Amino acid sequence: MNSKKNIIKKYQKLITIINRHNLLYHTYDSPEITDKEYDQFYSELKQIEKEYPNQIDSNSPTQRVGSLLLDQFDKIKHDTPMLSLSNASNESEFSEYYKKTNITLNRDNTVLFAEPKFDGLAISLLYINGNLSKAITRGDGLIGEDVTQNVRTIKSLPLTITDKNVPKKFTLRGEVFIDKKDFNKINNILIKENEKTYSNPRNLASGSIRQLDPNIAASRNLKIFIHGVANYNQFDGIIEHDKLMRFLSDLGFPVNKYSKLTTNLKSTLRYFNDMNAMREDIPYEIDGLVFRVNDLSKYPLLGATSKAPKWAIAYKFRAQEALTKINDVTYQVGRTGTITPVAELETVNIAGVNVSRATLHNFSEIKSKDIHINDYVYVKRAGDVIPDIDRVELKKRKNIKKIKVPKECPSCKSILFKVENQIAYKCLNSKKCKPQIEQSIIHFISRKAMNIVGIGNQTIIELIKKNIISKTSDLYNLKKSDFEKLDRVGEKSIYNYLKSIEKSKNVTFNKFIYALGIKEVGDASAKSLAQSFSNIEELLACSNSDLQKTSDIGPIVAENIINYLNDRDNRDNILKLISYGISITYTKQTSNNKTIVITGQFDNYSREEITDKISMLGYKVTSSISKKTNLLVCGSKPGSKKKKADDLGIEIIYEDELSKLLSEVH
Ligand code: IVH
Repeated sequence: MNSKKNIIKKYQKLITIINRHNLLYHTYDSPEITDKEYDQFYSELKQIEKEYPNQIDSNSPTQRVGSLLLDQFDKIKHDTPMLSLSNASNESEFSEYYKKTNITLNRDNTVLFAEPKFDGLAISLLYINGNLSKAITRGDGLIGEDVTQNVRTIKSLPLTITDKNVPKKFTLRGEVFIDKKDFNKINNILIKENEKTYSNPRNLASGSIRQLDPNIAASRNLKIFIHGVANYNQFDGIIEHDKLMRFLSDLGFPVNKYSKLTTNLKSTLRYFNDMNAMREDIPYEIDGLVFRVNDLSKYPLLGATSKAPKWAIAYKFRAQEALTKINDVTYQVGRTGTITPVAELETVNIAGVNVSRATLHNFSEIKSKDIHINDYVYVKRAGDVIPDIDRVELKKRKNIKKIKVPKECPSCKSILFKVENQIAYKCLNSKKCKPQIEQSIIHFISRKAMNIVGIGNQTIIELIKKNIISKTSDLYNLKKSDFEKLDRVGEKSIYNYLKSIEKSKNVTFNKFIYALGIKEVGDASAKSLAQSFSNIEELLACSNSDLQKTSDIGPIVAENIINYLNDRDNRDNILKLISYGISITYTKQTSNNKTIVITGQFDNYSREEITDKISMLGYKVTSSISKKTNLLVCGSKPGSKKKKADDLGIEIIYEDELSKLLSEVH
């Protein structure tokens, strides 16, 4: 008879065997056993787990399919920010980048590591003691969401690394994606089930990773490629990216097989063109190539902006296009009443995505491109942007109909106006026109505005449709019973909605101004206004000339602001917002005439965050040290600025003191 001890031993052995075959099958594409043999191992393992549920090991392949339903994703701060990439969209932009890089590195030719840019979802993977400990989405680059449960379901991703040469803790970066054929398969199932489909493979991958039920992610055959690490000195002795990728691949991580080293501009451009030609034959979506300096030791020298490193660039493929027919033209009403004509197309597939609508932008565009109903047109699609029409195929022109400028709003039927000196036609019925109300409340809750997290656009639209809200301040009066009137909204969601609304009440002045959605007041103008007015009362009492003293605010925007603030309903709404408990943090508008320079890395802040907050305290942030600099804020691994500051005897503060300084700002 088998003792329990022996069975557990066998169980562990089965885990090792199955994990190895998973790796051979999913990562290396070279299975050593038949599916039947694999299934036998697997069912043996499951049998043991059924008999000894207390012994289930988190490394077991059965545990990739999580079963716990999550309430919501935890927010996690990235140890190293997840930056994005600068883009080149044509040969001259790319050549320019290559030239600049050569100059910085003082070389004739820089060796680049090239690989496809996968159109998926960026992910950061933290391994501790050889085990996948956390998988975090990019989020805003600084804080992402904990999607470990879902990422664990990706079969090709090793959950455990047995090699003893890896550091105790390391972080990899990669992209989760889905094959084009799986995308179509899943969408077809969703159509049959009368569910909403995904518009492209990237949305499907990202939607699957952001499902609270991990069984959904598990059912979607997601894949992953590792394309780098968070810190380039994580793996001792590896100072070239190609070697690093080889090392990771040897550990069992899925890396892309189309990577290549290019040694000069000509070979780099050739590789780009070759891959562009192959693009359709690759089973997953790629939207360009990423080129990065292969010599990792040069990364500190090349540096980064707050958004993107300078040691890499994404060279995007040209937008893809397809020929199709315009069946009709409809009109959309935007947040500020602008009418946008939209082409309703004969559905056409462009690079794996079904396109049935394209924006026509405005009537002057329609005229200049000579577009008509029934025309055949080339529709272009690039990444996430709304598809648009490139040109008409005149050879196929037949039975065309002129596109008319509508006289009335397609939604509320009020008469449209053409704004002087502008191309746009507008519906001026902003208070009663449904799409305008919808869009202004959606704008109000958006991330850069009040940042009410978790309430989707559809929920807002339903709340308006059911007459539960009609203006932004109504949001702060919502009760549980109001949400219960919505279709299919559970207790948990309602709890989260109310929590998010409550949380949003603490807001900075600039975000509050931006949230109001005043015509042409974007986040930059909102920041300027927040700098020049002490508080909301002062802003409400301002005159046109006060406004024009604000930097970046010209006469037209000033007029828009005055019109907005002079409107009784708008003023009432603002006062209501405040009476419902919105608490605004004000920006200190007085400059203290001190300039600050920032250098190095910080544990608890991004550069952007420091710049934003320190400006609120009235400091001016500049990029280089001079005699005029008053203070250097110094993080770890400072650059040459520290030495310069020392030489010039400039005061230096470190992260602790910085934290104290910033504690005044929320
Ligand atoms: S390297 C600092 N390589 O593109 C980021 N990124 O637009 C260095 N991406 O957030 C990234 N494929 O998630 C790199 N082969 C690839 C990539 C890739 C897709 C994503 C990545 C990044 C985004 C930037």
